[in-house]
Amino acid sequence: MVNFLIFGPPGSGKGTQSVKLAEKFNLVHLSTGDMLRAEIAAGTELGKKMSTIMAKGELVPDEVVIEMIAARIDKTKGSAGFLFDGFPRTVAQTIALEKMLNVRGMKIDSMLVLDVDHDELVNRLIMRAEQSGRPDDKDPAVIENRIDVYKSKTEPIINYCSQKGLYQPVNGMGTIDDIFVRLSDNMKKFV
Ligand code: AP5
Ligand code: MG
Repeated sequence: MVNFLIFGPPGSGKGTQSVKLAEKFNLVHLSTGDMLRAEIAAGTELGKKMSTIMAKGELVPDEVVIEMIAARIDKTKGSAGFLFDGFPRTVAQTIALEKMLNVRGMKIDSMLVLDVDHDELVNRLIMRAEQSGRPDDKDPAVIENRIDVYKSKTEPIINYCSQKGLYQPVNGMGTIDDIFVRLSDNMKKFV
């Protein structure tokens, strides 16, 4: 099993690229953002509680997303590994993920970090707001808050993972196809 983190700020293309990469490399794509939005769409109690936090662009509590990943981690069904998208978001989540993988004889094999200019992030999310219906895309102040939260709470994971030799920076500017080739070329080193 080979397990990747796809990492980067809001709008950097994690979701877009994950769908393509999961197919190409036969990986299970796990996005905590998608799981949380599914809870909201299903009208669950958890979804109701988390929706206000997400609409403000804040992070939901660590234990909520750790629980969601723990519930999925044994469902690999013959895949080559996992592609974690939007998880982990804090160092505490990273440590929890490492423990979950370690007890199953697995580890994080690589962290692919998409590097995208600030203005490009904002433009992509404003464009997406028109079709996505995501409340966190509609308000430019919330987009900025999501980027700030990424810098303060999520980016420290890069340092944590760098010390373990996992950090793989990837240029996230350009066309979706060009970025896919860059990510694929990088991932081929690990599979
Ligand atoms: P989450 O769903 O993870 O959202 P995010 O990190 O804000 O990232 P996005 O999904 O907005 O961006 P992306 O990098 O996936 O880019 P995408 O491919 O969509 O999290 C949402 C919320 O849930 C969080 O704020 C938090 O509240 C909560 N949450 C989730 N996980 C959590 C966790 N682990 N801990 C705590 N809280 C958590 O692309 C964006 C747009 O750009 C799309 O329209 C796409 O078509 C377009 N695009 C992509 N690539 C290109 C390109 N190369 N050129 C032009 N356009 C492009
Ligand atoms: Mg996403």
